[in-house]
Amino acid sequence: MPRVLTAVGITKRFNAFTAVADVDFHLDANEAVGIVGPNGAGKTTLLNVLAGSYPPTAGTVTFGGADVSRSNAADRCRLGIARSHQIPRPFGNMTVFENVFVAASMGAGAAREQAYDGSIESLRLCGMLAIANRKAETLGLLDRKRLELARALATGPQILLLDEIGGGLTDAEAAELVTIIRELRGRGIAIVWIEHILHVLLQVVERLVCMDAGRIIAQGVPEEALAHPAVVEAYLGSGVT
Ligand SMILES: Nc1ncnc2c1ncn2[C@@H]1O[C@H](COP(=O)(O)OP(=O)(O)OP(=O)(O)O)[C@@H](O)[C@H]1O
Ligand SMILES: [Mg+2]
Repeated sequence: MPRVLTAVGITKRFNAFTAVADVDFHLDANEAVGIVGPNGAGKTTLLNVLAGSYPPTAGTVTFGGADVSRSNAADRCRLGIARSHQIPRPFGNMTVFENVFVAASMGAGAAREQAYDGSIESLRLCGMLAIANRKAETLGLLDRKRLELARALATGPQILLLDEIGGGLTDAEAAELVTIIRELRGRGIAIVWIEHILHVLLQVVERLVCMDAGRIIAQGVPEEALAHPAVVEAYLGSGVT
């Protein structure tokens, strides 16, 4: 599979603090990669750099052969990189449909009719058609997370960067989420998914990247990456199982 995203030597500092330290990351077309690691490992920060939400302090991000290191999140979204936020930020006084429609219109730069169709399709895929007319501010956390996914999807991405959309789900809800994400892969979308719930993540990803203290400490086939001594140590040390 051709490589769609390549990040080389990514460092992100906040003043004197280094949140991500010299990380190399890549994603192939239609690949699904999981990112795991203890709280504060730098997962979201790396995602923010890939999505264009933060410029890297050092390093480059290449998408589809073009250097996008200095382009912002809106530009990258139009190019085909969409992301969900760990803390959902819908427009609260707008409906679910309107939230998705805004994303479809602005993110993909789509014409009105195309944006409408894309929004409906995205809501259908995410199982949200039945609540399309509810105000976003009335949604519980799970539906807000699902709305994050629907909004990202509505921009028509080649790559979907997901930040903890599965937290707090029941087994049935998690199974539904896995079905949705598999369906997206079936449509040719590559996935990067940060998630603490391993058994859910492992149903979707074929490669796992394990981070701790701003660095990648192991990666590869999930079972092998998780068995790496540095990963065992990081998880035992953080108390996360
Ligand atoms: N905007 C910021 N300004 C200052 N420090 C930040 C900022 N964003 C993140 N950090 C710090 O960088 C480190 C990595 O944070 P990050 O959010 O990337 O971790 P994470 O792996 O996503 O953790 P979690 O699993 O809790 O979501 C943390 O110590 C955090 O406090
Ligand atoms: Mg995070």
